[in-house]
Amino acid sequence: MNHVSFLLRRRTFVAVALLAGVVGCGGSDDPQYPPPLLKAAAVSAPDPFGAAAAKLILEQGGNAVDAGVAVGFTLAVTLPSAGNIGGGGFMTVYMDGKPYFIDYREKAPGAATPTMYLDANGDVIPRLSLDGSLAAGVPGTVAGMQAVHQKFGKLSWSQVLAPAIGYARAGFMAYNTASPTTTASRSNFNNYFGGKMVAGQLFKQPELANTLQRISDNGADEFYKGQTADLLVAQMQRTQGLISKADLANYQAVWRDPVAIDWNGYTVYTAPPPSSGGFGIGQLLKMKSFLAPQFANAPLNSAQYLHLMAEMEKRVFADRAQYLGDSDFFSVPMSTLLSDDYLRRRAAEVNPLVPTPLAQIQPGLGTDLPAAPGATEKPQTTHFSIVDKWGNAVSNTYTLNGGYGSGIVVEGAGFLLNNEMDDFAAKPGVPNQFGVVGSDANSVQPNKRPLSSMSPTIATQNGKVALVLGTPGGSRIFTSVYQVLVDVLEYKLPIAEAQAQPRFHHQLLPDNVIEYEASKYPASVGTDLTNRGWIMKDGVGGGLNIEAVQVIGDMPYPVTDPRGKNGAVSVIY
Ligand code: DON
Repeated sequence: MNHVSFLLRRRTFVAVALLAGVVGCGGSDDPQYPPPLLKAAAVSAPDPFGAAAAKLILEQGGNAVDAGVAVGFTLAVTLPSAGNIGGGGFMTVYMDGKPYFIDYREKAPGAATPTMYLDANGDVIPRLSLDGSLAAGVPGTVAGMQAVHQKFGKLSWSQVLAPAIGYARAGFMAYNTASPTTTASRSNFNNYFGGKMVAGQLFKQPELANTLQRISDNGADEFYKGQTADLLVAQMQRTQGLISKADLANYQAVWRDPVAIDWNGYTVYTAPPPSSGGFGIGQLLKMKSFLAPQFANAPLNSAQYLHLMAEMEKRVFADRAQYLGDSDFFSVPMSTLLSDDYLRRRAAEVNPLVPTPLAQIQPGLGTDLPAAPGATEKPQTTHFSIVDKWGNAVSNTYTLNGGYGSGIVVEGAGFLLNNEMDDFAAKPGVPNQFGVVGSDANSVQPNKRPLSSMSPTIATQNGKVALVLGTPGGSRIFTSVYQVLVDVLEYKLPIAEAQAQPRFHHQLLPDNVIEYEASKYPASVGTDLTNRGWIMKDGVGGGLNIEAVQVIGDMPYPVTDPRGKNGAVSVIY
């Protein structure tokens, strides 16, 4: 088969991919492959190295999962603020016409306790769940990548790890990924590497190359039971962390049924608990359809549109705080929360004119909710979307949580650990770094997964992939994924135009605050909403960066978000 491919880069940057020993092109004439459904494969990735790794693997005859695993490991090298082997995430897969979801979210260590982030007075100790070893959950990425590769991969494990090992050993030309703020976590990472990751300079990570080589040789057991596990536990012992050998040995990625929402002629497959993403997207899509008469008089992104959406979001976040957590520990009433009857009732509570006062917003199935202030931190996570020629798709969001995670680098192994423990509710009603609160559903418990908002999503129509997307952004993730889904699949905007549309977000707390990209709206939108009682705040937090592939007919169109700095797409013919 003749492969012609090209790489489109969003921005000019100095980028030299030193893929020593991994450049090469295999064939895809394998008889086990059915004839291609699409004219090309496509990837949208947060950096050009990830896009190049996917392109390489797809050209070697790999499918979307092979490419996804290669990108997952590559970003652990080239995007250390968010890409990882020391964190966790979720992958939604559409393979041979069927949806799958692998949960490789971090778990609380076995020695974790509900009060571990509280002082003697029962108050939350600032930043204990964010900085240092106590912030780290048991990482899931390596287990997740192996599970999905074992089930669906066509190429060998060593083939899909090769690009990452190449980038780590030979190095890559660093570019500026970070926000101007230097956090403690980023300083720790820089210090570990002697300040060598500097934009425009070659950055090599020989320890990480060795770690990845051992994982390539010995599989995920190396990470969870081998030398890497020993190094990680030694790091915990040096820095008073809790992750033990037993925690690592017992870690398992879990296959779950994705949330599936039939909506507007599409089926939207997205993240179930321990993510709140599928719950949030499902509630928003359905409530909006039950409010169709009101939305008929609210043009897309008008003041009335934002008002109706924010009213819906108040209810969604009240339910999220009360009922969402790890479904292995807490019975999350997902089918009720997503049922038509329930959401018709919730939609009917929406006030079409002014914001409903906070005191009147209750979780829809009972119990009240404490008020709490918001939070400001800018964190990092990352997403990539891939469609292969056979019409299979991978939508993957994974994270260290905050940029550079806990700041703890495992000495001798060369990778960062997450600070995902902050996604638990350290104390009911006290907000985490995204300003969201939780109840006992999301309390810290040993071996439990913290509640997430990550929403890797795939929409299909008549069994064929139509749109693959996801984004970083903490609690802003699912409201953003929702906006692009609706803009493309309901308002029929071209995907690039949908990406450029202004974004907004409301999450119940802080009370009546709508975050919005003010300069992209007519000034009258802000004035109108302020006059109704909303507090309009410029900017949507969380570093939104939607990486998406839309399929139209037999052609995939990858796009990166204009908000992202270094996103890259590749189309592989
Ligand atoms: O799982 C979650 O929802 C968060 N830990 C994700 C963090 C995130 O998106 C930060 N990115 N900007």
